[in-house]
Amino acid sequence: MDGMTTTVAATTGRSQRRVRPRHFLMCPPTHFDVSYAINPWMDPAVPVDRDRAYAQWSAVVAAYERAGHRVDRLEPVPGLPDMVFAANGATVVDGRTLLARFATPQRAAEADAHRAWHQRFGVLYGGLAGARLAEPVAVNEAEGDFAVLSSVVLAGHGYRTSPDAHAELAALTGREVVGLELVDPRFYHLDVALAVLDEDTDQVAYHPPAFSAASQRVLAQRFPDAVIADDADAYAFGLNLVGDGRHVFMPTGAVHLRTELEARGYACVELDTSELLLGGGSVKCCTQEIRSLPAPRTAGPAAGEGEPR
Ligand code: ARG
Repeated sequence: MDGMTTTVAATTGRSQRRVRPRHFLMCPPTHFDVSYAINPWMDPAVPVDRDRAYAQWSAVVAAYERAGHRVDRLEPVPGLPDMVFAANGATVVDGRTLLARFATPQRAAEADAHRAWHQRFGVLYGGLAGARLAEPVAVNEAEGDFAVLSSVVLAGHGYRTSPDAHAELAALTGREVVGLELVDPRFYHLDVALAVLDEDTDQVAYHPPAFSAASQRVLAQRFPDAVIADDADAYAFGLNLVGDGRHVFMPTGAVHLRTELEARGYACVELDTSELLLGGGSVKCCTQEIRSLPAPRTAGPAAGEGEPR
């Protein structure tokens, strides 16, 4: 059986990897475009093939759904060409939602769409005890700069999210928030420099040169087992991935990173996001996670069902 074969393949790593079903919020690239440049990857002179972007985005959604994850759609708004990058709209940890406040005027109005979705469909109205929806004070670009782990939240700063926002997230969630300074404008968000492979076991991968020397020391100390992504991995946006405990949904082209992940027992699902890369984003940038309940420390249901192909 399919499931059997893949389970065997996935136990070549240190432990057997298991899927924990996730709830994601994503926004179709209906109005996707590169009409301004707010990161070094964007060039308004290069035309965008929106149909292709839509097909690539749909393949990401399909891969999540095949693996058993729930994907809710956020209604795209005309005139907001970066809305496909839904990770930037809000951070939800244990049913507590911190809305985004964007660093650039071009994206500011996206926050209203996210607020409206969270007010209507978010955890606050799911009847979850302790759920909260918080308005941001300082600039924060949500999961672009906040990496949620079971024990801690890693928080990027230097280009977009303000260090003041780190304290807001800590106050809202009660979690320790560890600041990491980004020093290379190509890695302007934390989620292009560091990936959460498994939120429940605090497994990460990162690209050291994206961080200041002090932040590299923090990472090396806290994550001695981390996977290190090389230049080619990082430039291919290889770290802009989503892990569900067993699968790693990642952009194509991060050859060394993929080999490392497979050696640790992850099942890599490669997705072509070439069109979305024109906006400076890939798989993770398109994906906001709705974490309505505390993440369990141990594994969820057995993998093998709904295996993406
Ligand atoms: N063009 C968008 C920007 O520069 C891309 C955002 C990518 N999102 C992310 N989570 N890294 O804001």
